[in-house]
Amino acid sequence: MSPSWIIIFLLELYFPASAYVPTQDLSLNDEVTPVTLPVLVGISGTEFVWQWTPHDGRFKKVQLVTVKHSKGYPGAQYSWTRTSEHNIYYRNFDDGENGTLIIKSKFENAGHYTFKQIQPNSTVLAMFDVFAFKSIPFWWDSIPPGFDVTRACTISRLPESSRLQWKHKGSLSAATKFHYNNTAVIIIQNVDEHSTGNYSCGLLKKETYLHGFHNTLTLATSAFDSRYTLYRDGANRSEVQLICRSANRHDTAQWTWRSESSSQPIRIASAIRNGPVGIFVKGVGQRIRSPVTVYDGHYFPLHISPVVFQDAGIYICYTDNYIYVSITLITVQVSVEPPGVLAIGDEANLTCTVSGVRERIRLVWLRDDDGTVVKEETLSASDSGRSLALFIPRVSTEQLKWACVVFQESLPRAYFPIEINAEEMQTAFGDPVLVIVACVCLVLLKIFITALVICLLMNYLPGPVQINPHVDTGVTSAPEEECKGEHSSKAGNAV
Ligand SMILES: *[C@@H]1O[C@H](CO)[C@@H](O)[C@H](O)[C@H]1NC(C)=O
Ligand SMILES: *[C@@H]1O[C@H](CO)[C@@H](O)[C@H](O)[C@H]1NC(C)=O
Ligand SMILES: *[C@@H]1O[C@H](CO)[C@@H](O)[C@H](O)[C@H]1NC(C)=O
Ligand SMILES: *[C@@H]1O[C@H](CO)[C@@H](O)[C@H](O)[C@H]1NC(C)=O
Ligand SMILES: *[C@@H]1O[C@H](CO)[C@@H](O)[C@H](O)[C@H]1NC(C)=O
Ligand SMILES: *[C@@H]1O[C@H](CO)[C@@H](O)[C@H](O)[C@H]1NC(C)=O
Repeated sequence: MSPSWIIIFLLELYFPASAYVPTQDLSLNDEVTPVTLPVLVGISGTEFVWQWTPHDGRFKKVQLVTVKHSKGYPGAQYSWTRTSEHNIYYRNFDDGENGTLIIKSKFENAGHYTFKQIQPNSTVLAMFDVFAFKSIPFWWDSIPPGFDVTRACTISRLPESSRLQWKHKGSLSAATKFHYNNTAVIIIQNVDEHSTGNYSCGLLKKETYLHGFHNTLTLATSAFDSRYTLYRDGANRSEVQLICRSANRHDTAQWTWRSESSSQPIRIASAIRNGPVGIFVKGVGQRIRSPVTVYDGHYFPLHISPVVFQDAGIYICYTDNYIYVSITLITVQVSVEPPGVLAIGDEANLTCTVSGVRERIRLVWLRDDDGTVVKEETLSASDSGRSLALFIPRVSTEQLKWACVVFQESLPRAYFPIEINAEEMQTAFGDPVLVIVACVCLVLLKIFITALVICLLMNYLPGPVQINPHVDTGVTSAPEEECKGEHSSKAGNAV
């Protein structure tokens, strides 16, 4: 299958009379085969128009071309008139037979197409959605061992209730996976033999596989004179492999490290062929070690676990005193302010800090659930900026998961998720004890009001007691005593 990009053609046929709207999958094409949008046979109109709304939103609905069919009889010639003001018709489309539209196989041509009759009356005859897939990078070159590799898969528009998914040899791999915009990304750290093989990106609609493409990751035999950058979390138990593997045999090998803060490299490990591997980093304890105990003249790896922020710097492997590979380790720290458990509705600041900037990078804050890009900033080696902060005015339960992504050119190189630890504050109606207390209070209030009403009625109702002026004071005080008595006894029962 094509290693580049692919057009998926989902056809939606629409008949106004019956309101019948099936979605039909017509064909799958590689980058050289154009797509032909068919028209219904036996249509009786005489003039039609093809309309297009691109998925990428460059512009709104445009009329590409009108098609005239003078008498409407089978076999009659169609005449085409380009109406597109965008001057794109010749580059991107072709006239097909019998009014059909030919779409050249370009990613930007993805979109919604309508075939509409305009004479003698106006009726939409058919609608189509043409989706395009893109694999980034275009070609999958073989990768020297130890590199971090990013593969991205973009679809022109994500159909409703569908998603993109990467698989390795047919199953979900443990590699880092995330998505942003309409792109699914897989980042394979420190590639080795286990990471090679078949990778596929599939479009799933409600867990049903619709389409996809696949390609093969292959390993280069050596990394001679390569320079590359690795990004690792400096605060969240990450690990890094520094791989020095040569096809040729060497007599000596050593690793040096120059930290971000010092100008002098220090020797951290060395070995001679068939001799033991020596590690010289004091104070770092077991964090740096080599998976091999004896240097065989070819393979001299180092493993740091867990990585801390201060491990950033340049690691160089020399074989026979020549630079074999140079690895820039950039450590990244993501944090939430204030620390600890927050309440839903609180404000928070997220910060993503890189240990250094060697080449132009872009830091991006993503809302991790839906892959929305919320904030981004470009950093270059000459700037002093090393971090990107994101202010969240109100923490909400739907938006606890965030991620900082490091982009280099247009591709993500590293992904650092962070989850805000926030809890719902207890409300009166959420707590059963409070609910009971509230009910009791209401009952008491009701009793009190009833008693009050009785007292007032007894005071104002004309009755025998009011006729006798001598007991006036007694009458007014007596019901009051009664009210108080009733109130307290009933309250006692209620409680
Ligand atoms: C165009 O119409 C003619 C006559 O109906 C038919 O023979 C021919 O196959 C059609 N071509 C396409 C591409 O549909
Ligand atoms: C349009 O014209 C066709 C015949 O050409 C007819 O069958 C159809 O009902 C008309 N539609 C409307 C909305 O007038
Ligand atoms: C790679 O995976 C795809 C999809 O899972 C499968 O169709 C294809 O046959 C596989 N290719 C190889 C060479 O294994
Ligand atoms: C995501 O898409 C938007 C809109 O198309 C675009 O402006 C933005 O640059 C994209 N984000 C990334 C990280 O590519
Ligand atoms: C978040 O950052 C803003 C601006 O730097 C600051 O005013 C605010 O106090 C910070 N809030 C928290 C909770 O740290
Ligand atoms: C550590 O990483 C995990 C996922 O790997 C993430 O859920 C968590 O929020 C991270 N914690 C911090 C403090 O970055």
